[in-house]
Amino acid sequence: MRMLTVSETDLKVAADAIVAGKLVAFPTETVYGLGADAFNPAALARVFEAKRRPTFDPLIVHIAELGGLDAVADLSALSDKAAGMARHLSERLWPGPLTMILPKRSAVPDLATSGLATVAVRFPDHPVARRLIELSTGAVAAPSANPFGYLSPTRAEHVASQLGERVDFIVDGGRCDVGVESTVLDLSSGKPTILRPGGMPAERIEAEIGEVQVFDRSVASPKSPGQLPSHYAPRVPLKLYPRGALGDVEARSGEALLFFDGASRDSFLRNAGLETAGGDARPSIRVLSEHGDPIEAAANLFDTLHELDASGVSVIRAERADSGGLGAAINDRLYKASRKE
Ligand code: TXA
Ligand code: MG
Repeated sequence: MRMLTVSETDLKVAADAIVAGKLVAFPTETVYGLGADAFNPAALARVFEAKRRPTFDPLIVHIAELGGLDAVADLSALSDKAAGMARHLSERLWPGPLTMILPKRSAVPDLATSGLATVAVRFPDHPVARRLIELSTGAVAAPSANPFGYLSPTRAEHVASQLGERVDFIVDGGRCDVGVESTVLDLSSGKPTILRPGGMPAERIEAEIGEVQVFDRSVASPKSPGQLPSHYAPRVPLKLYPRGALGDVEARSGEALLFFDGASRDSFLRNAGLETAGGDARPSIRVLSEHGDPIEAAANLFDTLHELDASGVSVIRAERADSGGLGAAINDRLYKASRKE
């Protein structure tokens, strides 16, 4: 594995590697992706192998311009209404953290979609991702660059430590701004349905196309692994608490507490009489956003979980975020990261 910078020369090296069927991890605005040429079945097979991912899990195809959509998706196979929504959303919310599930073109190998008649398409809002896709084949299939079931990477170092020699190149573009994966919206069947909440809030999508359904795991079987109840998990057990409930928890040193905002941390410290206690008596304390801003909290989520996972704590006790906006994606990831008794 070789680390690359975001210079034009290095991006050409990375793009050539993709064209040659190799694997390149690269930054997007959400998380790092493990990229391969979307039209090359052998390269796609290497993605599954590198991730140790069950092959029934379809990949997201990344494009770098609106014109790239029709090369991979066939909107004419949709109802006029659904096709109109797809066009409208692509114009209004792309580039951005929105993935649309659409009828696939036959040029996209079955391996990319796990044999489904639909393909997941996304136009990422990141100059490095965009340039890499442009310089290679115009369509780069990329799951998040983590081993199956583990936390998604938000820094190049996360990819290096998790995938190491299983990837050929890593383009180091620093930390990802959004910090949680894209919202996956299914436009291929009946009503638009969010299969995975993510970096594009449901409210933003509804402002463009009206009401969308949110997949409810209690009534339907999962269509995608992002919907499995346990996914995106750290190795250390994570226990999830209602918002505000960490204030009364008894936590020892050697444990970690993950607060949504500074006010909940302060109420914990007051209740526990720890305001003035030294470091040794305290659990490890982290706050996702001092002022409770869900955008900042989402950006810090995986980063903080990676850090705590590597720190040797015995348990992570985390409180839920306020719902609404990116709170839905944060709570979804915290739920999936948590141990269910
Ligand atoms: O932000 C993101 O979406 C990141 C960056 C790298 O773009 N990618 C990402 O990919 O999270 P991945 O593979 O980890 O998650 C893709 C999700 C999975 O839950 C997959 O099952 C679902 O999208 N998916 C892909 N194609 C699908 C399809 N045709 N129908 C239903 N779900 C699909
Ligand atoms: Mg993933």
